[in-house]
Amino acid sequence: MTSTLLTNIGELVTNDPDRAGLLGAVEGAALVVEGDRIAWVGHAADAPAADAAVDAGGRAVLPGFVDSHSHLVFAGDRAQEFAARMSGTPYAAGGIRTTVAATRAATDEQLLSHAARLVQEMLRQGTTTVEIKSGYGLSVRDEARSLAVARQLTEQTTFLGAHVVPQEYADDPAGYVALVTGPMLEACAPHARWIDVFCETGAFDADQARAVLDAGEAAGLRGRLHANQLGPGPGVRLACERGLLAVDHCTYLDDADVDALRDSGTIATLLPGVEFSTRQPYPDARRLLDAGVRVALASDCNPGSCFTSSIPFCLAMAVREMGMTPAEAVHAVTATAAAALDLDGADGVGRLVPGRRADLVLLDAPTHVHLAYRPGVPLVAGVWQGGRPVV
Ligand code: NIG
Ligand code: FE
Repeated sequence: MTSTLLTNIGELVTNDPDRAGLLGAVEGAALVVEGDRIAWVGHAADAPAADAAVDAGGRAVLPGFVDSHSHLVFAGDRAQEFAARMSGTPYAAGGIRTTVAATRAATDEQLLSHAARLVQEMLRQGTTTVEIKSGYGLSVRDEARSLAVARQLTEQTTFLGAHVVPQEYADDPAGYVALVTGPMLEACAPHARWIDVFCETGAFDADQARAVLDAGEAAGLRGRLHANQLGPGPGVRLACERGLLAVDHCTYLDDADVDALRDSGTIATLLPGVEFSTRQPYPDARRLLDAGVRVALASDCNPGSCFTSSIPFCLAMAVREMGMTPAEAVHAVTATAAAALDLDGADGVGRLVPGRRADLVLLDAPTHVHLAYRPGVPLVAGVWQGGRPVV
């Protein structure tokens, strides 16, 4: 196995809880990659010999970003819907049906090449792990092929048949839930690790969400939820009651929701690109962090409510608009986002400590703070995934 020494790192964000500070940052650092794993981390002066060496030129190195929430399998374009929103038309979940029609009409090859292009776009911006949901097929055939496409791009695939009730079931939502929990789940479970429900007025209520999560868990999938995005509702508390690992959006929370998140340890995954692109109020990350809630950030990249693939952009918004420090926001897109996908184990991602996967981002900047300090600037100068340089 060949080893590579990455040295002369100005600031190395390790997220190692055994080091000082939230980010366990080391100045004047080096690390050694062996095969696809991190083998050694420390001060450059103490570094062991390796087969090859790369000079980071005094720049910052961080764990690769983990995007724990995206909807990349779709066809069509909703730019006009975005333009109308910017002139005052409110966002409505019903727009999802426009993408469903285009997705059903696309071939598997079209869906795969479009999603693969978005994954590459993410990689160039530092995202080395991505979760991808279905949810724009909404028939047995189209959900199953959406997940088969997603599986070619990531192991973190999520069955979201319960995104909205499709047009053909508009008069029979119970029939649609029966389809999702029956034949659709059976066809999709082999391609999925997770199951998700959009629990919101206009999509699925708490009882329907429970039914879908029960069925998914019985089929061996693990639950996640979209909740409290468009208004207050029961979704966040449902996620906490069930002990789900993460609940996503969390824009409209009351005190009981915040207490439930803190007491359950369920991670609140905030998706500020959605609020940017729907003109809704940003979720209050500061309130959550101060209450002791674990907060992750993700892109929610999708054609309707938020078409950004950029974790650096989401991080900058979280710092500027949501009360997070740059360090908290970096932690939220690395270690906590990895935990939101249950990838924070000793052989996981999100931290640069020996044994973890060697997924790294080299910034064209001296510290992680520049990610928020220089918003919109393409600061990602290099990316390693599983020990291999990919950008
Ligand atoms: O996560 N909230 C539900 N689903 C997506 C939006 C989908 C769309 O508008 O196409 C979201 O924001
Ligand atoms: Fe989403």
